[in-house]
Amino acid sequence: MPPITISSFAKINWTLEVLGRLPNGYHELHTVFQTVDLCDRLTFEITTVPDIRLSCNWPELATDESNLIVRAARALQQFGRIPQGVNIHVDKRIPTGAGLGGGSSNAAVTLLVLSQLWNVPATSTDLQQLAEPLGADVPFFLSGGTALGTGRGDKIEPLPDVAPQLLLLVNPGIHVPTGEIFRKLSPQLTKPKTARILPAYFFPPKSDYLTHLCNDLELTVFETYPTIGLVRQKLLDSGATAARMSGSGATVFGVFADEAQRTQAITLLAQSGWQVWPCKTVNQTEYKESFKF
Ligand code: C5P
Repeated sequence: MPPITISSFAKINWTLEVLGRLPNGYHELHTVFQTVDLCDRLTFEITTVPDIRLSCNWPELATDESNLIVRAARALQQFGRIPQGVNIHVDKRIPTGAGLGGGSSNAAVTLLVLSQLWNVPATSTDLQQLAEPLGADVPFFLSGGTALGTGRGDKIEPLPDVAPQLLLLVNPGIHVPTGEIFRKLSPQLTKPKTARILPAYFFPPKSDYLTHLCNDLELTVFETYPTIGLVRQKLLDSGATAARMSGSGATVFGVFADEAQRTQAITLLAQSGWQVWPCKTVNQTEYKESFKF
């Protein structure tokens, strides 16, 4: 079989509310995820020997057993008792550790693609169970589109698609340590009442849902890294209808009403030396289509 190349999309969080601390040390979240068309490209080539080999266009990315792609492939291989192996190449474009879920997306794509290529009789529940230990964001990328994440963010309920949105992702090149931010956060957790109300703006999306975007990690992140707060302010100043940090940052997304305004913002923001990626939302149908081969 010839090698197969598949897109592995990034995500943003339209909302991210922290409800409290779970007994396992993680935090309970209510988050509305959205896939966007900034993507890595993953190439899979099945081999007759059982080895799982990974290569990458970024030499600094670990390609050993610590990489989520290798861990996902290994977990599936063991689950299905598969005698074959795979060579995987990842062409990285999504910045790592940036709140865009790149590594989690790669892991979910690996599960979805290899279950087909290796003919693993895995149900969607099996894939969900394989995805959960790999990371809190991995289960979302099994379905993509717009979805509510509860628990650690790993219990996924698909939501109706939002209308296509033009976005600008901006990253000032800061690495935010997610665990540290969650630990600093505890005194200011969202009140449970508010947390239950916010996702309702997406059932189905109300016309004003963009005015209800939120991220409970922003305050703590902006205090520690003021530049990230500045990115958000500059996005708003340059005409974004709404702007929020994605996940624990450092990427901030802006929503733009039209292409001309976004083009103007790209010029302005790139002047600060920040990385900018124009992109758009990917709905659930488009996401599913991307796995057809
Ligand atoms: O899921 P990920 O591995 O990116 O999470 C990094 C760290 O962030 C976790 O080890 C944990 O300390 C914290 N976290 C949390 N609650 C979540 C997600 C992450 O406390 N729901």
